[in-house]
Amino acid sequence: MDFYVAGSAAHGDDEVTVTHPYDGRAVGRTTWAKDDQVEAAVAAAAAVAAEAAALPAHVRATALEHVSRRIAERRQEIGELITAENGKPLKWALLEADRAVSVFRWAAEEARRFSGSLQRLDTDPGGTGRIAVVKRVPRGPVLGISPFNFPLNLVAHKIAPAIAVGAPIVLKPAPATPLTALLLGSILAETDLPAGMFSVLPIPNDRASSLVTDPRLPIVSFTGSGPVGASIRRAAPDKHVTLELGGNAAVLVCSDYADLDWAASRIATFGTYQAGQSCIAVQRVFVHSDHDLLPRLTAAVNALVTGDPSDPKVDVGPMISEDAAKRVESWVDEAVAAGASVVTGGKRDGATYAPTILTGVPADAKVVAEEIFGPVLVVSEVPTDEAGFAAINNSAYGLQAGVFTHNLQTAFTAHRILDVGGVIVGDVPSYRADQMPYGGVKGSGVGREGVASAMEDYTEPRVMVLTGVDL
Ligand code: SIN
Repeated sequence: MDFYVAGSAAHGDDEVTVTHPYDGRAVGRTTWAKDDQVEAAVAAAAAVAAEAAALPAHVRATALEHVSRRIAERRQEIGELITAENGKPLKWALLEADRAVSVFRWAAEEARRFSGSLQRLDTDPGGTGRIAVVKRVPRGPVLGISPFNFPLNLVAHKIAPAIAVGAPIVLKPAPATPLTALLLGSILAETDLPAGMFSVLPIPNDRASSLVTDPRLPIVSFTGSGPVGASIRRAAPDKHVTLELGGNAAVLVCSDYADLDWAASRIATFGTYQAGQSCIAVQRVFVHSDHDLLPRLTAAVNALVTGDPSDPKVDVGPMISEDAAKRVESWVDEAVAAGASVVTGGKRDGATYAPTILTGVPADAKVVAEEIFGPVLVVSEVPTDEAGFAAINNSAYGLQAGVFTHNLQTAFTAHRILDVGGVIVGDVPSYRADQMPYGGVKGSGVGREGVASAMEDYTEPRVMVLTGVDL
């Protein structure tokens, strides 16, 4: 497949074969962008920045609506491509396509609404007859770096807000899953956006550092691992950087919660969806000791079907690679050697790791203290809800948390004291609506995505003071 340099299809010399994580077969080909093509993309983004910032809202919104509509029209094809390169079951891939439809639709709507604000200044004698018009202007071209786990929607979350505010974007997709981003590039190329407004460039990770430090790309929006996020921060201390990093998302089933079957089924599904490869997949499960959750959770996990992700009956497909599954296997083995018990799962078959429940895990084991990014649930009992909240906060991360409670006061308490970017009441931490602010605290990153939040992030306020105004 072609890649996109300043809105035009292009190809390089060195071929990249993308393989299916389930059986290793080739599912598509592209080429790495060459250095001169990367340079052309960045130069074009810088050159078009002023024109892009001045594009009328209706032009930006029309382009975004077009992309939304075309993803909807090509839903099945896109879903199959996501499954082919990422290995997630087709039902999850189709859901991802639906979410991207929504992201571009929201961006079109927000582009039309994005109007700035007025601030009266006659609040002190020196400001009599004065008013401030505050509009937000793009900080400049964006470098977007996206991960493999949502090859379409986490690309959409970088590109759609950029177009919505009139900021050019150079997007580097994950090397393992470039094809869906390239297909999205082909849809963007159908629009009337000016040349230079977008580029989609497959390049190996070790060639990304020159883009990260390039002063013509003053914003870096990165989703991926903590160590890479930290290295971006160190490499570009003067840039505006948004980092959506990992987490070891927790859920608490509170003392008052009655519907244990619902909680068990949600935790089983969202601890293992996409083979656990989501930053908000459930990893740590805290349950009040009055509840008999474990047998229900074990039954729900055992009912999950693993196998070929294109089979509609399959719930849990392969991980992104056999190496990734081997890493999960080694972390589980390490926990077991340190005293943990395997309630179910604990086995690997190629790139597929069986949905797994562990109990009795020491607090410093990697499976609980670090992001497992695999289909593994670590279950612990807590004597009180307060102890559960403290256990959730006992983490180097803070992305989202789930709290199963029917009690409104408990919900507000959780919202107040949990040190995370989002608290989901009555459900798992894995819930995300694409218009919500999304991001974390501590090791989970800085800044927020979600269409309106990213638009704010890609822009800065510019004030105009009018004097002699008859307020
Ligand atoms: C992520 O893995 O951070 C994204 C989760 C989502 O968008 O559902």
